[in-house]
Amino acid sequence: MRHKFINSKMLKGKPLSQDHVLSRHVPETHWYHAATLTKMLQSFPVLYIKPDKGSSGTGIIRVKRLNNSESLVSFKASSKKYPNTKIASEVAKRMHRGKKYIIQQGIPLATYRKKPFDLRIVLQKPSNQWLLTWMSAKVAPRSNSIVTNVAKGARDAKIMEVLRGADQQLNVPTVLKELSGVSYKIARKLGSRFPLRIVGLDMGIDKKGKVWFIEANTRPSFHGLNKFDPVQYRRYLLAKKQTEANS
Ligand SMILES: Nc1ncnc2c1ncn2[C@@H]1O[C@H](COP(=O)(O)OP(=O)(O)OP(=O)(O)O)[C@@H](O)[C@H]1O
Ligand SMILES: [Mg+2]
Repeated sequence: MRHKFINSKMLKGKPLSQDHVLSRHVPETHWYHAATLTKMLQSFPVLYIKPDKGSSGTGIIRVKRLNNSESLVSFKASSKKYPNTKIASEVAKRMHRGKKYIIQQGIPLATYRKKPFDLRIVLQKPSNQWLLTWMSAKVAPRSNSIVTNVAKGARDAKIMEVLRGADQQLNVPTVLKELSGVSYKIARKLGSRFPLRIVGLDMGIDKKGKVWFIEANTRPSFHGLNKFDPVQYRRYLLAKKQTEANS
């Protein structure tokens, strides 16, 4: 079986939202429409609006409800307050014409030294079973960063250091167990829908320690990771070689 690159965030998220066990770990997600934004802003204090086929954290817009009359729109390094009646038109100004967007419930990410972080989890399928081969954290550059992509200034960090040192008191063994359980389930579910040999998951931990799926990369980048963690990198390379030998 060959591996196929899948671009659309909506396409990759659908089978997970529809799964009875996994759905509680997947943020509510819809295609973007101004009316959906207005509606979701009533149920969620923070919303993420992302190009369906985006990458590296580019083009992401965050809307944060401040009160019944105002919200904060963040894009790149700037944040500005607007009346709620103007939010949809302000979001539209920051969108790329011709690109499709999804809108998603925002996850209140746990922080490390006040900076939000998420996790990079890689699973590979060298033969007939998924194997978790990589786990690390990505810590945003600033406390007000809206994305945790290394391409946008986040740094790779050791998962244990970040979970143990998080500003929220996390039950680390419980988080790790949930994280690996959910990650394996995601890999198996996505692997049953698409011909996949590797998935790189962006997983979030919220401030209460709950595990959330953010995004699945079907062509995860390992740029710079050999130097960051040579032991895990060798595990990845070995699985990659086995995958190639078996396909
Ligand atoms: N629903 C969300 N709640 C909280 N943070 C989010 C949410 N969606 C995205 N983010 C933040 O934005 C970052 C980038 O989002 P995402 O991974 O979905 O897109 P991308 O990185 O541009 O795409 P790709 O992972 O395919 O390169 C995440 O790593 C996370 O820090
Ligand atoms: Mg990502």
